[in-house]
Amino acid sequence: MLKVVVLVSGGGTNLQAIIDGVAAGTIKNVEIAGVISNNYGVKSLERAEKASIPAFCISPKDFDTREEFNNALLDRIDSLSADLVVLAGFLVRIPEAMVKKYSNRIINIHPSLIPSFCGVGYYGLKVHEKALERGVKVTGATVHFVNEGMDEGPIIAQKAVEVLEGDTPEVLQRRVMEQAEWILLPKAIDDFANGRLTVSDGKVLHKN
Ligand code: GAR
Repeated sequence: MLKVVVLVSGGGTNLQAIIDGVAAGTIKNVEIAGVISNNYGVKSLERAEKASIPAFCISPKDFDTREEFNNALLDRIDSLSADLVVLAGFLVRIPEAMVKKYSNRIINIHPSLIPSFCGVGYYGLKVHEKALERGVKVTGATVHFVNEGMDEGPIIAQKAVEVLEGDTPEVLQRRVMEQAEWILLPKAIDDFANGRLTVSDGKVLHKN
C-alpha cells in the first residue's frame, strides 16, 4: 500500500475526488495516511474527518518564522511515512528541503495547461480570471511532479477544456474541475501507486 499525504488549503474538491477514488477502487493500492491544511476551518478538513482520515492544520500563523513552519510541515509529512505527497489545491510554496527529500514524490494539480497561466501569482480562481482576460478559447488542467521551480516540474498529464462565451471565472473553474482535475489527479495517483510512471531526463514516461 502506497501511503499518500494530501496537502490542501480550501474547499477540497480534489481531495474528495481522491477519497472517492480510493473508496471505489479506481485508485488501487493507496492508503490516504493524512490530510494537512495550512488553514483552519476549511471544508477539506471536514472531508478528511468524515472519511476517518487523520487531519491536521499547520498554519504559518502559529510560527514565528517561515523556517519553523516549513520544518513543522516536513516533520508531519515524515511522521506519516509518506510515499507520495499530493498537493490538491495547496496554495503555499513548497520548501526547498521538502522538494529535495521527496524528489519525484510530490505531485501537484494546476488549473491551466502549463506553461500557460502558471507560476507566481497564478493560483485558484486567479488562473481562470487571467485566462478569461486573455480571451483564450481552450484552457484545462495539468498534473505534474514538483521541482524547485514554480509549476515547472515534469508534466504527468494534461486535459484541455473549452472556454465558452459568457463564462465567469467561477463557471470556468467548475468546468475545469469537472472535466479535467477530478479525472487527472486520481488517475495520476493510481498510475504512480501502480508503477506506471517513471521520470527520465526531466520527462515523465507512462507504462501501460
Ligand atoms: C483547484 O482548482 C486546484 O487546481 C488549484 O486550486 C483549486 C483547489 O480547489 N490549485 C492551484 O491553483 C495550485 N497552483 P479544491 O480545494 O476544491 O480542490
